[in-house]
Amino acid sequence: MSAAPVPEGVRDGGVLRAALAYLVTGFATFLLMGLLGLHMRLDQGGLMTVSPTWFYRIMTLHGSGMVAGTMLATMGGLAAAVERTVRLSARALWTAFLVYMLGMGFIVLATTLGGFAAGWTVLYPLPALGRVWTLWAAVAAFVGYLFVTLGFTFYCFHIAWQIAVERHGLGNALGWSLWRKTEPSDPRRPRSAVEIIATVVTLQGVFTGLVGAAYVVPVLLKDAGLVAALDPLLEKNLAYLFGHQLANLNIYFAAAFVYALVAEHTGRPWPASRHVAVAWNLVLLLVLLPWPHHLYQDFAQPAFMPIAAEAVSFLVGIPSFLVTIFGALGRIHRSGMRWSVPMILVALGLWGWVTGGLGAVLDSVIQVNQVTHNTLWVPAHFHTYYLLGAAAFTWAYLYDLVTRLAGVPEGRASRVAAWLYGVGGAGFVLMFFLSGAAGVPRRYAAHLPQWQPFARIAVPFVVLLSLALAWLAVDVVTRLRPAWVGAGTGTRN
Ligand code: HEM
Repeated sequence: MSAAPVPEGVRDGGVLRAALAYLVTGFATFLLMGLLGLHMRLDQGGLMTVSPTWFYRIMTLHGSGMVAGTMLATMGGLAAAVERTVRLSARALWTAFLVYMLGMGFIVLATTLGGFAAGWTVLYPLPALGRVWTLWAAVAAFVGYLFVTLGFTFYCFHIAWQIAVERHGLGNALGWSLWRKTEPSDPRRPRSAVEIIATVVTLQGVFTGLVGAAYVVPVLLKDAGLVAALDPLLEKNLAYLFGHQLANLNIYFAAAFVYALVAEHTGRPWPASRHVAVAWNLVLLLVLLPWPHHLYQDFAQPAFMPIAAEAVSFLVGIPSFLVTIFGALGRIHRSGMRWSVPMILVALGLWGWVTGGLGAVLDSVIQVNQVTHNTLWVPAHFHTYYLLGAAAFTWAYLYDLVTRLAGVPEGRASRVAAWLYGVGGAGFVLMFFLSGAAGVPRRYAAHLPQWQPFARIAVPFVVLLSLALAWLAVDVVTRLRPAWVGAGTGTRN
């Protein structure tokens, strides 16, 4: 049962196949990058020795690969969810995919062969000067970022545009038509909550992509000798506006899967309603504002920026949290729903979103940030809302889609694996939080003996997480062929 009837002719096998390619490539990237993460934790626990040179290359590849890979999968899932009620172009999706993958290829080359190791935030000017690694490696990394950004922007533009066309205007796509007297069949009314969310996040995505380009292009011009100097503070603001937006958007993209899956599995539709529209229109505005909380240590920033950022950091999560989390819990309560793999992952995701979000809000308090800044508290909060939030929602959607398209039901062991994903993930991020609270710095290749127990305790949890993921990955891979065939016929259970 879907939240809204699917109009005739909309289910497009080509679009579904493109969506599957995004989802599966993103999932595979996530698994590979997870193994790099395990290496770093083994090294920090003193259980394995990775040279500092390689640690920072691995850290850079892991950070950028994880962010890009998880986002890619989420983009695929969103395309599949939107395709239920809106016509999309498979060609546009494949074009964005190729550009995006080209960018990811450049980043792999820059880090592994070129030795680029500046961390995923690649803050100007040091990474771009070519002092520790060659200038070519720096240029390759920035070109990689540019292609990823262009692929992402093109994808977002396509989705936002198509929804606006289908609903006869952007305002209607954002749900403003819900305040007019319209029949439910009126094309100006969004067909589901997912459509409103998709419009908001892809509009934000276009803006974010442009900010990314505004950061990267001047750096490349400088490297080419066409620009004499750049303002490092402006570049830092652009880098963090881009990075903050991208990380946050991943969770907001993936929140759409909560609406789709909860409606599907509880049999309780989640239509486009006024409170969904209000909450998500507020997200459209509020997400743009808190990035200066990454620059509290930059005394040259005008004072109003950190103060405003702290206030907005408190507000930003509230609308989507309230509507999504209470809406999901209310629908699940007494619905008689079966705890299938997708719904276990959705429940874990709700927990991770809230926990990681609270960790982030704490970190955004200026006085707290004086202590937690650049400690492992920072990776703790974003690993929580990624691994146990955005990624959990995305794997839930991938699993659901592949299982339905293939027509192969899940087994009991797979449900156990889904719960173990939660146990492994929670233990792993808890050790990051405890390390951060104890003042262990982030981005250190070598940890002092008194810091190592945190990483050592984390390792068995990461291994458990890896085993759970391996189990779910086998499920996905064995269903992939029939799912691909099922997608081609445009049928969906
Ligand atoms: C699968 C399990 C994972 C493990 C074991 C892992 C492990 C790690 C470790 C040890 C670090 C270095 C922390 C430090 O000392 O600063 C790190 C950094 C990072 N991780 Fe993960 N991680 C995992 C999943 C993820 C996920 C799901 C994402 C995002 C989607 C992610 C994104 C990042 C980023 C952005 C960094 C920062 C890189 C930088 O500082 O430049 N990781 N991770």
